[in-house]
Amino acid sequence: MPATVTVGLQWGDEGKGKIIDFLAEHADVVVRFQGGANAGHTVQVGEEIYKFHLLPSGVLRKRTLNVIGNGVVVEPGQLLQEIEEVRSRGHPATNLRISDRAHVVMPYHKTIDGLEEKLKGGLGAGTTMRGIGPCFEDKVGRFGVRMADLVDPDVLRAKLEKVVPIKRRIIEALGGSDVLDLEALVAQHAEYGDRLRPFVTDTSVLLDRQLARGKRVLFEGAQGTHLCIDHGIYPFGTSSQCVAGAASVGAGVGPRHLTEILGVAKAFTSRVGAGPFPTELEGDVATHLREKGGGEYGTTTRRPRRVGWLDLPMLRMSVRVNGLTGLAVTKLDVLGGLEKVRVATHYRRDGETIREFPASMRVLGECEPAYRDFKGWPELSEDAWIGIARKGRRGLPEAVRRYLAFLEAQLKVPVKIASVGRSRAATMALRA
Ligand code: IMP
Ligand code: MG
Repeated sequence: MPATVTVGLQWGDEGKGKIIDFLAEHADVVVRFQGGANAGHTVQVGEEIYKFHLLPSGVLRKRTLNVIGNGVVVEPGQLLQEIEEVRSRGHPATNLRISDRAHVVMPYHKTIDGLEEKLKGGLGAGTTMRGIGPCFEDKVGRFGVRMADLVDPDVLRAKLEKVVPIKRRIIEALGGSDVLDLEALVAQHAEYGDRLRPFVTDTSVLLDRQLARGKRVLFEGAQGTHLCIDHGIYPFGTSSQCVAGAASVGAGVGPRHLTEILGVAKAFTSRVGAGPFPTELEGDVATHLREKGGGEYGTTTRRPRRVGWLDLPMLRMSVRVNGLTGLAVTKLDVLGGLEKVRVATHYRRDGETIREFPASMRVLGECEPAYRDFKGWPELSEDAWIGIARKGRRGLPEAVRRYLAFLEAQLKVPVKIASVGRSRAATMALRA
């Protein structure tokens, strides 16, 4: 570490929360740089389980500074609820800073999210309904409310007086019936601004100072590479950039600071939401992955996740667009108990071999995965896996070591971390 970026390599839910928590132990600062409350990070500390949507994962560590960068869209009511939750469980949450340039998710963004999804029919992504897309639309369209506005009641009122009538017309045109009470919106958001004011600052300046002092900064990606607005499965992904380069833009830190880029991949693939999924499984193996996954259900939406085998065309692209220096592979324990484990090495379509992940959803939908089969490994108890984690790479069952070695050879990136269970003790640093 001086500055490490962690990003998801698939469709989100790779277990980034656990890896980030593992790394956060050695971090002075943890930074969120994109996405919003569509994210769901599960962090387990001892017996306690926390689910964060907006709070950075280091918030439970007293000496760690936590930053919500300018690239994040902040839903103030949700954030305040999370702050209250960690406070009620004994953590002060005074170690939080929010960028004054971050955009605010307003209630009308959620209304419009729902209306647009309905109108889009087959083009809908199956969003989390958190208003993410419409908030980013406003950011790019320059209709947005930023944190700097939220904490300034006069500016907030002036902006909403202009924007709300426009939103009313849009909602009506989209077939909605929400009439938007301007005074109620102003009052509620002025109150949110009051409560969040102590946290709001220029976080780019703050991070610059921290880096100049040699502090170790961990950038915490949300979602995943294949949900990225630029590199993901358009239009079925999310509305923010989810790749490592976004850490620079979304935190206001020059790219030369980003020295370690760690990509997190689950040992299989999962997806909440719509769109083609070449290695998708149904039947017994799918049930195994979903159930043993101990909750392959969306952290934010609770929808059952679609599951499938690991997909190398997906991962090859992720290695490239993020410029990875290392891999973290999670949920290896979940594959335990399967007779054989498969990895898609490439696709076939119309007799043609496809090695690179296609841009066209039509082409992707017609791709048939070609698999390499591996011998499975046993299903073990959580304690047995923790015992293995203590020993490092040599402690892993031989079949797991072969699986990881194959990934390293195919992707040309070392696996630096492996995770074999839910608890902190089940995450292990690996040496080659
Ligand atoms: P949105 O980000 O709510 O607009 O949703 C767009 C798509 O991204 C939907 O298919 C969501 O299921 C998916 N998505 C957004 N955030 C996450 C996440 O943190 N994990 C997994 N899927 C996500
Ligand atoms: Mg998640």
